[in-house]
Amino acid sequence: MTILQLISARVQAALAAAGAPDASANVQPASKPEFGDYQANGVMAAAKQLKTNPRELAQKVLAVLDLEGIASKLEIAGPGFINIHLNPAFLARRAETALADEALGITKVDAKKVMVEYSSVNLAKEMHIGHLRGGIIGDALVRVNSFIGHNVVRQNHVGDWGTQFGMLVAYMVEISKSGQADLELKDLDTFYKHSKKRFDEDTAFADTARDYVVKLQSGDAEVLKLWQQFVKLSLTHCNAIYQKLGLQLNDDDVRGESFYNDDLPVLVEELRQKGLLVEDQGAQVVFLDEFKNKEGEPAAFIVQKQGGGYLYATTDLGAIRFRVNKLGLDRCLYVVDSRQSLHFQQLFSTARKAGWLPEEADFQHIGHGTIMGPDGKPLKTRSGENVKLVELLDEAVERAFQLVTSKNPELPEAERRQIAAVVGIGALKYADLSKSRNTDYIFDWDAMLSFEGNTAPYLQYAYTRVQSVFRKAEDFDPAAKVLITEVAEKQLAVVLAQFEDVVFAVADSSQPHHLCGYLYNVATLFSRFYEACPILKSEGQVRASRLQLAALTAKTLQSGLGLLGIEVLDAM
Ligand code: ARG
Repeated sequence: MTILQLISARVQAALAAAGAPDASANVQPASKPEFGDYQANGVMAAAKQLKTNPRELAQKVLAVLDLEGIASKLEIAGPGFINIHLNPAFLARRAETALADEALGITKVDAKKVMVEYSSVNLAKEMHIGHLRGGIIGDALVRVNSFIGHNVVRQNHVGDWGTQFGMLVAYMVEISKSGQADLELKDLDTFYKHSKKRFDEDTAFADTARDYVVKLQSGDAEVLKLWQQFVKLSLTHCNAIYQKLGLQLNDDDVRGESFYNDDLPVLVEELRQKGLLVEDQGAQVVFLDEFKNKEGEPAAFIVQKQGGGYLYATTDLGAIRFRVNKLGLDRCLYVVDSRQSLHFQQLFSTARKAGWLPEEADFQHIGHGTIMGPDGKPLKTRSGENVKLVELLDEAVERAFQLVTSKNPELPEAERRQIAAVVGIGALKYADLSKSRNTDYIFDWDAMLSFEGNTAPYLQYAYTRVQSVFRKAEDFDPAAKVLITEVAEKQLAVVLAQFEDVVFAVADSSQPHHLCGYLYNVATLFSRFYEACPILKSEGQVRASRLQLAALTAKTLQSGLGLLGIEVLDAM
C-alpha cells in the first residue's frame, strides 16, 4: 500500500467508527511543516453533513484513529484539521524496504492492458516541432504504466493512407526513372513540395496520381508495393528521430491508418443498419446531438465522403473496433494535440452509440498544448516554416556541448559529447514534461539548459553530486539500518516515501509534470539534508544511515528521471 492509501484507510476507518461512514478522509501531504507530514481534512465536511461541531467530531475521530507505529504525534488544528506527524522509525523502515527493492518497493497494480498511442505522424512529411510533445509525453506514459505493472502496448497510428499517397507514389515512380529518387527522398518535405507542384501543374501527372489512389485502395499489388517502399522510407526518417530522442517506438509499434482499410465499408454499413447514418449532401454522416456547431445544430461526424471516399474519422472508428475486439484493451490513451479534442469527443461518442466501445473501456484523449515562440505564436523558423525536429534535436545537443565545454574544458571531447547528448535531450524533454500538458508553453533554450531551478540539468547534476559522495565514501554498507533523528533527515525520508504515490498519480492522471515537481522537491530536500547533516564526516551508524538516505535519493532520482525517459550520468 502507498503511504497515502495507508493513512487514508486508517482515517476512513476512524471516521466510520466516529459515526461518519460516508465521509471522505481527504488526506494530503501537509502544506507546511508546522502542520506535520500529512493532514486529514475530511472532518469539516463530515461534520457539516452530520450537523455537528467539527472540532468535537475531530476529537472523536482522534480517539479511535489507529496510526500505531505509523505516526508519532496527532493533533487537531483550526476548525477540525487533523495533523499527522509520521514516526521516524516507520519512515526508516519504508526507506529500507525501498532500498532493498529494484522497483523501490512499489506495490504492483492489478495488471490491465493499456495502449498508449503516440507520435502517429503523417508519413508524407518530415517530422517537425509539432511532433515533439506527443512523442515525449506518450513515451513517459508508456514507462510509468509499465513500471507499476500494467501490460502496455505502444502504438504509432501513422497517417499512411489517403489521396496524397497516390501523388507521392506517382512522383516517386517518375523520379526513379531519372535515378533521382534516393537523393530527393533524403528530404521528405522537399519531396512532398515537388510532387505537389507536379500535381498542380500537370494534369497528366494528376490523373496518374488519382489512378494510383484508386488502385491503392482496391489493393493493386504493383501500386501497393511502391506505396510500401515509400512508407518504409518515411519510417526510416521517423526511427532516426525516435532514436535521437530516446523514444521507445519502433517498427513493431506501427499500425497505420491503412491497416483498417478492409473494415471501413463494413463499419459504415453497420452504422447504417443501426440507424445512425444520415445522408447529407451526398456524404454519410453521424449527427451527434450533444455536440452543437456554431449555428446550434447537431455537429456532423462525416464517415464517408460524397463519391465514396473514407476519412480520418472512419479509420479511427476501425481502430477502435480493432483495439476493443482484437486487442481487448482495458484502457487506451490517445496522446494527440488538444486541437483535435472535438474529433475525439465525436469519435468516442459515435463508437459508444454504435456499441463498439463498452462502458468499462477507458478510452481517453490525452491532449497537449502547443510549443510557442517568444512572440506567443506557434514556434516557426525565421522564414515561417515548421521547425524540423532533427534540426531542433541537433541544436539541443550542440548547445549542451557548449555548456559542458565551458564548465569542464579539460574533459576529453568524446566524453563532453557523450554528456552533451544526455544533457541536451534530457533538458528538452524535461522542459516539456515539467509543464502541465494541457497548456501551451514558450520555448526557451536558456531556461531549459539552466543548472538552477526545475530543470533536467539541475536534477542530473544533483544525481552526480550524490554519486560523488559514494566515490569518496569507500566503505558503504548497502544493508545498513536507516536512523532518522534530524529534521532534515526526516524531511528527506518523508519525500522519498512519497515516490509511489506520485507515480500512481501520474499513471492515473496522465500528467507527468507531477513527477517533475516531485523530483525537484527530492533534489532540493537532499541539498538541505546535505548541508545540515554531514555524511562523510559523521561516524559509525549515523554515517552508514546517511549514506543509505543518499543512496535512496540517487535511486529515486534515477528511477524518476528514467520514467520520464531521461538518463543520468555519474559525472558531468
Ligand atoms: N496523424 C494524425 C495527425 O498528424 C494524428 C493521429 C492521431 N491519432 C488518432 N488515432 N487519430 O494529425
